[in-house]
Formats: sequence, structure tokens, C-alpha cells
Amino acid sequence: MEIENLKKPLHISPSDFLAGAMDYQRLMTYYQCALMETETKFKVLNEQLSIGREANPIESIKTRLKKPVSIAEKMTRRGLPLTVDAIEENLTDVAGVRVICTFRDDVYSLANSLLQQDDVRLLKVKDYISNPKDNGYRSLHLIVEIPIYLLNERREVKVEIQMRTIAMDFWASLEHKIRYKKNIEKLDGYEEISRRLKLCADQSAALDEMMTETHLMICKMTGEDVQEDWEAQL
Ligand code: GTP
Ligand code: MG
Repeated sequence: MEIENLKKPLHISPSDFLAGAMDYQRLMTYYQCALMETETKFKVLNEQLSIGREANPIESIKTRLKKPVSIAEKMTRRGLPLTVDAIEENLTDVAGVRVICTFRDDVYSLANSLLQQDDVRLLKVKDYISNPKDNGYRSLHLIVEIPIYLLNERREVKVEIQMRTIAMDFWASLEHKIRYKKNIEKLDGYEEISRRLKLCADQSAALDEMMTETHLMICKMTGEDVQEDWEAQL
């Protein structure tokens, strides 16, 4: 069923339009349920991983459903039809979860624990922590599929999970605000802006590294159990 781009004149019957709107609403409900399921999974892991240590590995969890205007923009940009089937098939970031962790090792231990669950299917990993983007962006991105249980069916729903430390989130959030919709690529001083943002990213990564090392030092001194090779397990 076509979902009308509301900027264009309506050229389908009102009943078809309403049916399309309801299909869209239903699809968004699936994503909303998948967000709740994913958030709960992380909350459960947070509780378990905090046993035996003084603090929880998760600082905060944010969830967001991609806005209709952003969905329409992305589908149009990719030359795809605005139908619920095409949205479900082609977009992997309608449901987005951001997990802010205390330390880098927490990112990997949580990701690893999530991916070990037999109802979580990994579709894609982008490790921008081991391989930061050229602009300095650091984060671990997972595209997963998780089941949601409806009245008489089980559906697999795609969720984009972004996992990063407080320092990585500090940089990414500010960088996003600085850049957002400003077309800074076209400005004369763009190279200088990029250089400064990259410097900020490297400095916050250095702070992160030092905090992690300090944490490991304390753990070793107090005999707290730490696992240092999470990356190898992913
Ligand atoms: P889209 O940008 O969503 O089309 O995805 P993509 O195919 O480029 O995937 P990627 O995993 O690289 O990025 C997905 C999301 O990560 C983005 O929508 C942002 O939320 C975040 N992200 C990626 N790169 C950056 C960056 O350089 N800065 C910031 N602040 N966020 C980024
Ligand atoms: Mg996106």
C-alpha cells in the first residue's frame, strides 16, 4: 500500500490512503516493540554485569523511532518506493538504540553478551572504535534482528544499536549539533573546522584511554575480575 508523500496532491482514494496510513502505523508499532525488547535486554545485562563491581556498566540508554519525514527523505534519496514493505526491507535504522557505557571494555562485553543470546541475530557490525572514521567518530554499531511476540505471531524486527563510552558520546553529540543541517562542507574554513573536530575526537579518546587504564590499575590492585580481551570475542 502506497504511503502518500503529503507534499504531493492526493491521487489515491481516501480508503486506500487510510489503509496505507494504518499499515504504516502498524509497522511503527513493531519497531516500537522492538525498541522496548532491546532496551529490556540491555537493562537485564546491566544488572547482571554489575554484580561484583561497584558501578553499572551502562550510563544511559536512549531509544528513538525514525521520524516519518526522515524515513521519506532516506527512501526518496535511495530511489525506493514509499511503501511499508520497502521500508521494512531496506531501512535498518527505523528503530535506534543508543547505549552509553562507562568504559570501552563495557561496550564490548555488553555487545558480546547481547549477541550470545539465541534470539538475537547479528546482521552487520561496524566497529568505529577499533577503526574510527576519518573525522574521529568512534562507536560500535550493530544491526540486529530480534523477535517480538504479537497476539498470534512472532516477527523479526531490525534494530540499529549504537554503543559508545561517555567520552565518545560527548564528541558525537557535540559534533552532530555543530554540523547539523549547516552544510559546513561548503564553507571556506571547512578544513580548519575538520581539523579542530578531529583534534577534539583524539583528545577525548586519549582521556577515555587514560580512564580505562586507571580503572584497570585499580581493578588489579583490588583483585576485581576484569576481562581485557573483549574485542577478540566479537
Ligand atoms: P545513515 O547515516 O543512517 O544512512 O547510515 P550509514 O549507512 O552511514 O551507517 P553508519 O553506521 O556509518 O551511521 C549510522 C549512524 O551513526 C548515523 O545516522 C549517526 O547517528 C551515527 N554516525 C555515523 N557517523 C557519524 C559521525 O561522523 N558523527 C556523528 N555525530 N554521528 C555519526
Ligand atoms: Mg541513520
